Amino acid sequence: MPETNDKPEFSRGLEGVIAAETKIGYVDGQAGRLVYRGYEISELAGKSNYEEVSYLLVNGHLPNEKEYRDYDRKLKELRTLKPDTYSLIKEIGKSAHPMSTLRTVVSYIGAKDSRTVEPNLDEQHDLGIELIAKMPTIVGAINRVYRGEEIVKPDHDLTYSDFFFHQAMGRKPSDVESKMLDTALILHADHGMNASTFACMLTISTLSDMYSAVTSAISALKGPLHGGANERALALIEKVGSPENADKVIGKMIENKEKIMGFGHRVYKVYDPRAKILKEYAHEVTSMNGKEELFHTANKIEEVMISKLGNKGIFPNVDFYSGMLYSSIGFSREVFTPIFAVGRISGWVARSLEYVRENRLFRPKALYSGTKELLKYVPINERD
Ligand code: ACO
Repeated sequence: MPETNDKPEFSRGLEGVIAAETKIGYVDGQAGRLVYRGYEISELAGKSNYEEVSYLLVNGHLPNEKEYRDYDRKLKELRTLKPDTYSLIKEIGKSAHPMSTLRTVVSYIGAKDSRTVEPNLDEQHDLGIELIAKMPTIVGAINRVYRGEEIVKPDHDLTYSDFFFHQAMGRKPSDVESKMLDTALILHADHGMNASTFACMLTISTLSDMYSAVTSAISALKGPLHGGANERALALIEKVGSPENADKVIGKMIENKEKIMGFGHRVYKVYDPRAKILKEYAHEVTSMNGKEELFHTANKIEEVMISKLGNKGIFPNVDFYSGMLYSSIGFSREVFTPIFAVGRISGWVARSLEYVRENRLFRPKALYSGTKELLKYVPINERD
């Protein structure tokens, strides 16, 4: 029988529906603010580092020196991948999009871990920390293999983001690259109940394991309306090619009712605070790499978009400048969304742990709009 709704309250896509309580962070879409555990994102991006922010999200407070050392040591200890995981990454090679490889690899590591059978809360926590630790190693290796390059031996002295950079690029980052990547990971670490975080929480709410939950999250992040927008945003900036073309190309796309990737947000109706910070870095790094034209083109696209759609609350989101930034430091376009996953892993884990501690199975309803009349089954050979 179809579900019935005596008193239907219908919100397509659950827009505006509050379905969980959290102390982890909030997004103020009208003021353009993002706060992690009481700290403004610009404060954390300027003064903290990814390890500290990850600890903050998972544990609820900034670590003292001992807590920091212990967390850092744990992440370093758990970074390593087993040889069969590298073999799997190599076997998939260039035959899949890196986001599909990432999803498969996370699922594979989970399948080999006996704690994923029926984990208790402590085990869910341990699995989550292990995932936070392994994510840069996995994405780094995927990047190498995707580009036909040798996998890099882990250097355990490096910080989280420098380690990631080294695993992905085969060299250590410059100071600017290091700060930029660390900042990008911090800015992506958590963002309310976005689609991938919700997917993660939904899966853990069935008391499934953290690896399965994160596999769901990666699947959701892959889509072009979510994490997949950064690849397409850079493609668009390159297609526009120069600031002079922006008015014509973007104007035509708007006329044709096409969505411009890297703009608009379900929550922000003003400038995304993460985009503001990434824009500054994008300017800096493109000037250093002689790719300023790319930045000026993006800036002009932004101007055109705001003049035409700013009144509808359409502004650049985090994905508009992140792709340009990653490309300028040498990442392949197909790896932009996996980089997002390296940052977001801490938010996925923190929110899933928070939710499952006071668990309530997610189970929304659908408003049935099909026929109410009961139909008689007609055998296939008697149908029109
Ligand atoms: N380009 C052009 N027009 C847009 C855009 C855009 N990027 N985004 C929204 N609009 C327009 C819509 O066409 C619609 O116009 P209408 O009222 O004339 O029909 C209006 O703004 C409202 O759009 P919705 O899609 O209903 O807005 P919603 O809040 O649901 O969308 C979303 C949010 C999905 C992110 C949307 O802005 C979009 O598709 N953006 C492009 C993809 C993107 O950049 N995604 C990354 C988001 S950030 C992240 O996930 C990390």
